[in-house]
Amino acid sequence: MRRPFIAGNWKLNKTIAEAEELIGALLPRVGAVEDVDVVICPPFLALQAAVDSTRGSAVQVYAQNMHEKDSGAFTGEVSAPMLFELGVYGAIVGHSERRQLFGETDEGVARRAAGALEAGLWVIACVGETEAEREAGETEEVLRRQAGVLEAHEQLVLAYEPVWAIGTGKTATPEQAQEAHAFLRGLIDVPILYGGSVKPDNAAELLAQPDVDGALVGGASLDVESFAAICKAAAQSF
Ligand code: PGA
Repeated sequence: MRRPFIAGNWKLNKTIAEAEELIGALLPRVGAVEDVDVVICPPFLALQAAVDSTRGSAVQVYAQNMHEKDSGAFTGEVSAPMLFELGVYGAIVGHSERRQLFGETDEGVARRAAGALEAGLWVIACVGETEAEREAGETEEVLRRQAGVLEAHEQLVLAYEPVWAIGTGKTATPEQAQEAHAFLRGLIDVPILYGGSVKPDNAAELLAQPDVDGALVGGASLDVESFAAICKAAAQSF
C-alpha cells in the first residue's frame, strides 16, 4: 500500500496573520503524524509565512497554482522557480475552479505540471467530471482527456475531484471514487487522491478503497479539528 497523502487546499482564505494562527493550532495536532504526508496549500501571499512556521515539522507547503513559464511578460503571475526558492514543496495544478473560472485547458494544465516538475516541485494535478458529464455517461471520456495529457513522474500525484462534489457536501460514494480511481490508475500509475467534500465522517471509508491513496480537502482543511481527524483517519488506514 502507498503511504497516504492528505492535502488541505485553503483556496482564497487566510491572510498572513490568519495563516500563522491556523498553522500554530495545526502543528501540535498533525506536525508529528507518522505514516502520512501532510500538505497545506495556502494562498500565495501566506506561503512565506507558512514555510517559516512549518519549518522543522513534517508538514509540507504547496502553492495552489503557478504559471507554466519560469519568467517573462506574464503580468500578475508566479513561477515554479520562484516558489521553489521560497521553500515551497509543490503546487496544485488544474483545480476545477481554475478550469471553470479562469479558463484553464487540459493542455495548459499539462504545461503547468511540466513546468513545476522541471523546477523540482511536486505536483497535485486535478481531474474530474461535472455533474452533467457524469449524467451523460461521459465520466471516463473526460478523465481520459484530462489525465491523458499528463505523463507519469515520481513527483506527480493526481487528484480525482468530481466537480459536483466540490464544496457541495455531496461526496462521491466510496464505490464511485474507487471506480474512477481504478480507471485513472489504468491511464497513469501515480498516487491518486480523492477530493470533494471530504470530512472526518466520510474520510475513513473513502481512504479504505484500494485505489484511493489520500485526500485533497477544501473546506474541512480550514478547521483544525476536522483536518486533524482526516489525517488521523489516513494514518489508521495505512
Ligand atoms: P471541498 O473542496 O473539500 O470543500 O469540497 C475540495 C477541493 O476543491 O479541493
